[in-house]
Amino acid sequence: MAFIMYFQKINALFNEAFSFIPLYKIAKVSADRLYEIISVKNENIETDIIKEKININQVIVINKINFSYNNKKILNDFSMKIYPNKVNVLIGVSGVGKSTLVNLLMGFIKADSGTIYINNKDISNYRVSDIRNSIALLSQESILLQRTVRENILYETNDILTDDEKISVILGKAKAEEFIIKLPNKLDYMLTDNGNNFSSGERQRLCLARELLKDAEVYIFDEATSALDIETERIILQTIKELAKTKTVIMITHKLENTKIADIINVMDNGKICESGSYDELINKKGSFFNLLQMNKKENGLVL
Ligand SMILES: Nc1ncnc2c1ncn2[C@@H]1O[C@H](COP(=O)(O)OP(=O)(O)OP(=O)(O)O)[C@@H](O)[C@H]1O
Ligand SMILES: [Mg+2]
Repeated sequence: MAFIMYFQKINALFNEAFSFIPLYKIAKVSADRLYEIISVKNENIETDIIKEKININQVIVINKINFSYNNKKILNDFSMKIYPNKVNVLIGVSGVGKSTLVNLLMGFIKADSGTIYINNKDISNYRVSDIRNSIALLSQESILLQRTVRENILYETNDILTDDEKISVILGKAKAEEFIIKLPNKLDYMLTDNGNNFSSGERQRLCLARELLKDAEVYIFDEATSALDIETERIILQTIKELAKTKTVIMITHKLENTKIADIINVMDNGKICESGSYDELINKKGSFFNLLQMNKKENGLVL
């Protein structure tokens, strides 16, 4: 009897000890993630010369940029001009380096050689934090936090007290109001991790509202309408066109029919811009853009 009782006691202890193994594994993954963040080196953002807020209101000139990821050349003597008060469209096949260019503009990565000029000054003269404050980026992946709708759309404005009326106008422009007003707590509705309780189109519109609320000078839309239906997309494109009246707009898209709203279309191939001009100019030129359109027409039966 004594043996059995002691055995059961020891057994219970072992069971308890083993039950910690899955918990330990979860904790280890979390700790690894934390250390990954802690070990990121601080960006050298305060040493540069120009410290006033940048008002990007001139042509952004990208001059002979070279950039490689692990010896794989992505941008090869890449040059391009981005005009203010215009919709500057960038197109090119998947993996050609469009988002890489955006990462360079935002200062997330550094070019191996070449320069970007903002208001006629080398980008390295500005504080990275100022550049990022002047640019609103709607990136390809919707990034949302496990917070309320309100906090998610306001966190780039640094003004949590923005009044509901202003938010409502922006939500209308981003075509997000229609699903937010149906939510139980509306703006105070909680999102689950990365907004998984919303559809991808809804997540995209929430992120769009967040960027529109940011008081920036340059707006970059990297595949901003990829998850939207045709009607919603049409309204968002109108919003983008409207924005370009006063701001610099860069739009990256795979949907060639959307390039109709462009003032200038840049076609990227082999690490550089191979063609640029207005929609009609490029059609008449019968070059790469024209060929892409023809291919698109054949594949999708689209009439452009
Ligand atoms: N962090 C990275 N490390 C290594 N290679 C990368 C990294 N990010 C992108 N690449 C590579 O760089 C190339 C360009 O990627 P990029 O994301 O700029 O393409 P993209 O033109 O935006 O494509 P898509 O239209 O699919 O978004 C791709 O071949 C990609 O595999
Ligand atoms: Mg991309």
